Amino acid sequence: MKIEKICTSLRRLAEDGAEVISRSEDVLVVSHIDADGLTAAGVICTALSRKGIDYTPLFFKQLDSRAIERIADAGSDLVIFTDLGSGMIQEISSFGIRAVIADHHRPGSAEIYRGIVHINPHLLGGDGATHISGSGTAFILANAMGRNEDLSALAVVGAVGDLQDLSSGRLVGLNRRIIEVGSRAGVLSFGPDLKLFGKQTRPVFKMLEYSTDPYIPGLSGDEEACISFLKEIGIRLGGERWRRWIDLDQDERARIVSALIRHGLRSGIPGFRLERLVGEVYTLSREREGTELRDASEFSTLLNATARYGHSRIGLDVCLGDRDRALEEARLLLSQHRQNLLNGIKLVKERGLVQLSHIQYFDAGEEILDTIVGIVAGMVFQIADRSKPILAFAATPDGMLKVSARGTQDLVRAGLDLSRAVSASANEVGGVGGGHSIAAGATIPPQSRDEFLSIIDRVIGEQMKSRGS
Ligand code: C5P
Ligand code: C5P
Ligand code: C5P
Ligand code: ZN
Repeated sequence: MKIEKICTSLRRLAEDGAEVISRSEDVLVVSHIDADGLTAAGVICTALSRKGIDYTPLFFKQLDSRAIERIADAGSDLVIFTDLGSGMIQEISSFGIRAVIADHHRPGSAEIYRGIVHINPHLLGGDGATHISGSGTAFILANAMGRNEDLSALAVVGAVGDLQDLSSGRLVGLNRRIIEVGSRAGVLSFGPDLKLFGKQTRPVFKMLEYSTDPYIPGLSGDEEACISFLKEIGIRLGGERWRRWIDLDQDERARIVSALIRHGLRSGIPGFRLERLVGEVYTLSREREGTELRDASEFSTLLNATARYGHSRIGLDVCLGDRDRALEEARLLLSQHRQNLLNGIKLVKERGLVQLSHIQYFDAGEEILDTIVGIVAGMVFQIADRSKPILAFAATPDGMLKVSARGTQDLVRAGLDLSRAVSASANEVGGVGGGHSIAAGATIPPQSRDEFLSIIDRVIGEQMKSRGS
């Protein structure tokens, strides 16, 4: 079986990596500022601690030549790159950095470089967008370093943070191996449940009110309507405290799900969107019930609320087990993050999307942070026309322009490869980019936006045409 083979080959690469790591005394761990990057670093840093190896963590928004120069200047024995690195392997090598790269982005080159162990599913014919995340790849490395099965829980948080369960409604491919390990180790449980955000932490009516994915007309954004909806089907909202999803019994949950589907059908929501109301949900069995950390999706959003705003140390500490100060600080950041996402979605809804022949886009200027514009694009795309990929622009603090692009599984099947399109178009205007076929990003000079748009519109048109014919 193919997955079996990829798994074995990844493990073999991981063993090479573990061997190099065991001979190092002082390691720099370099990772990405999102939930997958934080959990990947959490996995590796924990595995290093357990081995008694000293490390310094360092997080980047993206890996460009300047970042690699800084890393080289740090002069450590060894650099472990997680959730990034593959796209820049040539540059890493040209700086003479000794490295282990555990990543799932499309590699810049499949060549073998002296002094670099490269662990990436793409090198073995695997799919880095849906089959395994950066934290999953890091987990395979950690497992080669010692008994670290419990870290599978973090690896699942990373995969969910990268929305790897989005297309199928559940984790697939190598990710399934990881959840099996987690469930055997007693750190994970999984099963079908409502997919809405906030099952652990919000009163049920608030969970419905804040539902944006899918957006439920007549309920989303309307507290009163949510309260009457629940009352009508006989759900008690609270006693001493508001009841959350986890406080309800099976019968009450089933009643809500069927009422939501009836409501959705009556409101004309397409079936494929309603289907997304229910899917596989991942529970971290060792975390306290009623906390964000208990649910993989809430955990990943909590992490995004830290590193994407320059507070990666807080997110990393949560991954490393801090349940006091770091968790408290992360929670404060989370409420602001959720507000920023809602404001972002509102802005795009008000302004609308600009349509070109093969893409649609919005330019948020300085009104959405460059580090979250991709999440906003993804969320807006869920309720937009999905026949063309969406692009989003936002100004970066250092005067560049951030591009985020999102597609669908159907478009990818029809030939779309956003990683290639974004990276090639960015290169043509003097920028850099990369990612996955279904989701990619780049940084480009701001004055080149319109040129970039016309290039990528053409490139994507060609991708779709060549597969279609
Ligand atoms: O760096 P990176 O791998 O973290 O990001 C992956 C991105 O891919 C996520 O931001 C997620 O939103 C996006 N994605 C998506 N649809 C999928 C799978 C991933 O939009 N089906
Ligand atoms: O922030 P992050 O990308 O981790 O969000 C993961 C998912 O959580 C989103 O795709 C969205 O469905 C959900 N979410 C939400 N409301 C928010 C923020 C996130 O429903 N305000
Ligand atoms: O930033 P955003 O969420 O849009 O990123 C989507 C995907 O593109 C991620 O996998 C990210 O790592 C990748 N990306 C990249 N190079 C960039 C920007 C984003 O490879 N300059
Ligand atoms: Zn990732």
